[in-house]
Amino acid sequence: MSLKMSGLKKAVHRFNHRIEKQVVKPVKDMASFFHHFIHYPKTIGAATPSSPFVGKAIAKKIDEIPFKNKRILEIGAGTGVITEHLLQHLEDGDHLDVIECVPELVKELRILVNNSPKRNQVTIHEKKVEDYFPEKPYHFIISGLPLTVFHPEQVKFFYQKLETELLAKEGLFTYYEYLALPELRLCAYSLCKKLKPELYNHFRRILKTKNDYLKHKPVEHNTIWLNFTPMKVIHVKNPLNVR
Ligand SMILES: C[S@@+](CC[C@H](N)C(=O)[O-])C[C@H]1O[C@@H](n2cnc3c(N)ncnc32)[C@H](O)[C@@H]1O
Repeated sequence: MSLKMSGLKKAVHRFNHRIEKQVVKPVKDMASFFHHFIHYPKTIGAATPSSPFVGKAIAKKIDEIPFKNKRILEIGAGTGVITEHLLQHLEDGDHLDVIECVPELVKELRILVNNSPKRNQVTIHEKKVEDYFPEKPYHFIISGLPLTVFHPEQVKFFYQKLETELLAKEGLFTYYEYLALPELRLCAYSLCKKLKPELYNHFRRILKTKNDYLKHKPVEHNTIWLNFTPMKVIHVKNPLNVR
């Protein structure tokens, strides 16, 4: 009888843990993210955080990086949905740097990291990526930057910095965007090109910078349907790093 009771207790505990992790926490994260979005819409650039499924899909890539003591950089971590999964894939000797520029979000990131057994392998930088100057480049960079709300010159600067300073020659660059959103936006802006030429030009310049960066680089992508709305995750390899 007591064996049955302890089995039942364990099952209830497991169920509660699962609900907390898969329902309560994502809902809390969403509410907090939306709250910050109201205050910093132009910086955060999205009303909801990515789903844990996006985090899982991205973090899995760490295991494919064929180096010891991997250097990993996450830019624009928000409430840490992706950070949480990256932490789980860190091996001894790896190091994760996390950049976020909204102070309230940095506070949430610090709580997340401090509660992790991998906390000694992580450094949080409260700043913009433009003001970040690492000592060495990275093997894996994950960017959540909302580049479509950036100024086109800022976007150009970011890709230049990525190529010349941030990413190692053998490195992998991963970013994510809502499925088909850039194309849909360009389509919509093309339709109202006459009414809002400045919007059309803004968006076209950003797309051109991105396409120039991607030119001649091997790209792999996957779609995460379990996200609001579906997300495309894009992995960009350096041409020198094709295996
Ligand atoms: C679209 S949210 C992505 C958040 C999170 N990675 C996710 O997937 O839910 C973009 C994040 O980038 C941050 N951000 C915006 N501009 C930035 C910059 N110049 N440098 C660093 N982070 C920036 C925002 O504060 C925000 O947290």
